[in-house]
Formats: sequence, C-alpha cells, structure tokens
Amino acid sequence: MDLTLAGRAVLVTGAASGIGAAVVHRLRCEGAHVLGLDLTAGADVRADVTDEEQVARAVAEAVEVLGGLDGLVCCAGVSGPVGVNAADLEASSFEHVLSVNVVGTFRTVRHALPHLAAGREPAVVLLASDSALVAAPGMAPYCASKGAVLALARSLAVDLSEVGVRVNGLCPSVVDTPMSRTDLGRPEGFGEAGYQVQTPEEVASLVAVLLSPLARAVNGTHLLADFGASAASSFPA
Ligand SMILES: NC(=O)c1ccc[n+]([C@@H]2O[C@H](COP(=O)([O-])OP(=O)(O)OC[C@H]3O[C@@H](n4cnc5c(N)ncnc54)[C@H](O)[C@@H]3O)[C@@H](O)[C@H]2O)c1
Repeated sequence: MDLTLAGRAVLVTGAASGIGAAVVHRLRCEGAHVLGLDLTAGADVRADVTDEEQVARAVAEAVEVLGGLDGLVCCAGVSGPVGVNAADLEASSFEHVLSVNVVGTFRTVRHALPHLAAGREPAVVLLASDSALVAAPGMAPYCASKGAVLALARSLAVDLSEVGVRVNGLCPSVVDTPMSRTDLGRPEGFGEAGYQVQTPEEVASLVAVLLSPLARAVNGTHLLADFGASAASSFPA
C-alpha cells in the first residue's frame, strides 16, 4: 500500500533514540523528507523541548531546510521516577515529566503550527502510551503525563480542524527501546521476558499510517497497540 508520504516534509522529535529514530528511518523509506530533533549532538536539529527559545529556533531551522512542514511526530519523552509508589512521591517528581511530555509536546506543536497550517494535508502524531489508559505500579507521573498527552491530542484536533491539521495519539505498550530497557532492568533486551514486547519499527509503521493522507478521516483520537491486553475483562469466565 502506498501511504503517499513521498515528498512530504516531516519533523520528528526524540529522534536520536528508540521509537523516534525508527520513525525517522521508516518515513525516509516512504520517501518523505525528514529531520530529527533531539537534545543530543547526533540530531539534525538540536533542542530541549522544555526550552521555548531552543524549540522556536529548531523548528524554524527545520522548516527552512525542509522548505515547509506537512507532518510532525512528537516522540521526545521521559519516564521519570519509575517504581516509586504514589504514596511516597513528592509533587516535584511530576514537574520534569510533565514539562517534557506534556508542555514540551505542546510547545513543539505550537511553534510548528503556522507551518503545518500551510502544509499539504498536514498531520501530527503524539506518542502517548498505554499508560494513558491503564496504570502499572509506581508510574504515577508518567501515567498522568500520557493521559494529558491524549487529552492534548483531542483538544488540538478540535482547535486545529479549522486550519486543516489532524492530530492523533498513539498508545503502545512496552516497546524495546533504551527507555524501557532501563526502566524494566533489562539491559540485554526482552528475550525471555514472559510478556509481549513490540519493536520500535512496528510502532513506526503505525505512526506512518496515522500520518498518511489515507487516514484523513482519523482525527482527535488514539490508536492503542497493546496486543489486546486492556481488552480483557476481570470476569472469571
Ligand atoms: N519504550 C516504551 O515502552 C514506550 C511505550 C509507549 C510509549 N513510549 C513513548 O514513546 C516516546 C519515545 O520513547 P522511547 O522508548 O523511544 O525512549 P528513548 O529514551 O529511547 O528516546 C527518547 C528520546 O527523547 C529525547 N528527549 C528526552 N527529553 C527530551 C527533551 N527535553 N528535549 C528533546 N528531546 C528529548 C531523548 O534524548 C531520546 O532521544 C516517549 O514519549 C515514550 O514515553 C515508549
């Protein structure tokens, strides 16, 4: 299936690692013109999404290089303190997680918006998580942040419909990346994990579909990729 992404100009945040890196690769394979934004030196454009000036400068630079903007994929994110029970958390533990995952995502969309509004069939994909919908122990800041990302995707979709920009969230369960390996104590990967784990490349394929003009009717919603885990009832049948 041709996703008709060839020639589209796309900016991907969190592009130096894991899902973001896989998204850059997949979109380039589809023929899109893609730049990656990240904190690190290897990124095409460098910015910390918590810094207003850096994001403004990086988005402007990306748009100049790409000659416009048709798509934005926000993968930049942190997991924060994982494994701390909510009863033992200080409110300050939320601040960094929400500032990167929620405010940083909004800030990036905000600076990209004038360019997206002038783009071709523009679309935005925000990386949320199944943690937006279900909770694992010791992940309150992350779960709260990802719930907010989904609400943000809906709100943006409503507000931006007048300028024709689609916005959707994507909610994967565990993906094999440096983030999950660190958080779950699996530096060697998930070989004998005993639970299902998806690859960054599988998530990147879903991003490509949501970004594609073929998905033009899909707006203000989310795609849950959790192997059906959250569909199971507690009913003991
Ligand atoms: N790995 C998983 O199991 C999983 C599951 C669901 C959702 N997600 C989400 O997918 C996204 C990507 O996660 P990943 O697993 O690839 O993680 P990762 O740690 O491998 O990559 C995250 C990238 O974001 C960048 N980043 C972090 N803070 C930043 C900041 N302030 N400014 C700019 N860049 C910043 C990092 O430098 C890194 O390159 C995140 O939003 C994460 O919450 C991950």
